[in-house]
Amino acid sequence: MLKNDQLESWDRDNFFHPSTHLAEFARGDTPQRVLTGGQGCHIEDRDGNRLLDGFAGLYCVNVGYGRQEIAEAIADQARELAYYHAYVGHGTEASITLSKMILDRAPAHMSKVYFGLGGSDANETNVKLIWYYNNILGRPEKKKIISRWRGYHGSGLMTGSLTGLELFHKKFDLPLAQVLHTTAPDFFRRDNLPMSEAQFTAHCVAELEALIEREGADTIAAFIGEPVLGTGGIVPPPAGYWPAIQAVLDRHDILLVADEVVTGFGRLGTMFGSDHYGIKPDLITIAKGLTSAYAPLSGSIVSERMWQVLEQGTDENGPIGHGWTYSAHPIGAAAGVANLKLINELNLVGNADSVGTFLRDSMVQALGNHAHVGDIRGEGMLCALEFVSDRDSRTFFEASDKIGPQVAAALLAEGVIGRAMPQGDILGFAPPFCLTRKEADEIVGKTEKAVKAVLG
Ligand SMILES: Cc1ncc(COP(=O)(O)O)c(C=O)c1O
Repeated sequence: MLKNDQLESWDRDNFFHPSTHLAEFARGDTPQRVLTGGQGCHIEDRDGNRLLDGFAGLYCVNVGYGRQEIAEAIADQARELAYYHAYVGHGTEASITLSKMILDRAPAHMSKVYFGLGGSDANETNVKLIWYYNNILGRPEKKKIISRWRGYHGSGLMTGSLTGLELFHKKFDLPLAQVLHTTAPDFFRRDNLPMSEAQFTAHCVAELEALIEREGADTIAAFIGEPVLGTGGIVPPPAGYWPAIQAVLDRHDILLVADEVVTGFGRLGTMFGSDHYGIKPDLITIAKGLTSAYAPLSGSIVSERMWQVLEQGTDENGPIGHGWTYSAHPIGAAAGVANLKLINELNLVGNADSVGTFLRDSMVQALGNHAHVGDIRGEGMLCALEFVSDRDSRTFFEASDKIGPQVAAALLAEGVIGRAMPQGDILGFAPPFCLTRKEADEIVGKTEKAVKAVLG
């Protein structure tokens, strides 16, 4: 590709990049990377670098890059019918087929899928459906939503409020008043070090009970959580967490939203995280892995019990006042159908389980005893390392030391992409499901080198 063009300066002059330090970028202090291609687990940039993508973009390119089957499906759909809306009963073969494929894979009590474009808008849809549901049931006071600190549910007004990470609230006047946060199910970061995992689960449950008691169950509509905390640090729940939380919610008639934007369609080595942990949600949020990000598409899967009330609502009030121009966009839907077929044909969920486990075990072997690696954790094709200044007292580094970003930068210099997670010194991996054992070895070997370069 031509290099003597002005892309770099056009980029700094015109492009408002998301989740970026704007001033540093404008000054030229943040590196630019212009991506040009990808194949399997690797991406390429215009400077000729070939990088092993240990984070599958933003844990979304689950089938890997360069899948011609999906590209062809998108091209065929674009040629045949690039767009028609889905309002008032309209659909395409792709959108109707995809809704069936999703429900065939979802837990048995789920009933319908509403399509959006990304995880944030799908969670906005969920909140609207929850409020509508309680209004139809004659419970106008039951509206608050409980989320967890360290949860990530998007960066819209409501979804940014649900997100429990400081960066997403600060200076944005968030969270909105209808959102409450409860304890992060992050055992490694428990306040009381001698606490056992079971005691910590009991503590999380007691905190939730206390919050419900304080606010009044008749004011709380729903609880939202990722089966495994993602952006908050890739943290699997402590043992027994989900059944215990579900029991509290059931007792208080509080709906449960499983945000499966990361975990849906195989990342935990099972089709859904809800199956993995025995969660029985009323709504499931899906995005990323639905199309492996070959086209933007998300969804809210609605349970039969909620659906009955939504139907009643439209009998009483007319058509549901909710829809996007691009809901069920045919190109996204075509990508979704081809993607889910490919996941089945190549047994990628099985691979996410076996190679993901291998990746984590190898990471533990390589770095489990390192003085500054406090925790190595994950589930399926998810793995994270958390760095500490002292292991025994579990003392964290100062944020200003930027240990996580430094390790990620050292790893990048070795040709592997890991993600410095936004809150804490946590290096995350969420590779494509097609990762081979050889590629897992490369991630581990280079991570070991990067950690030693930064922390000795
Ligand atoms: C669990 C979860 N929910 C929601 C979202 C928001 O999705 P999007 O960035 O597509 O709006 C994300 C994004 O990372 C996510 O991880």
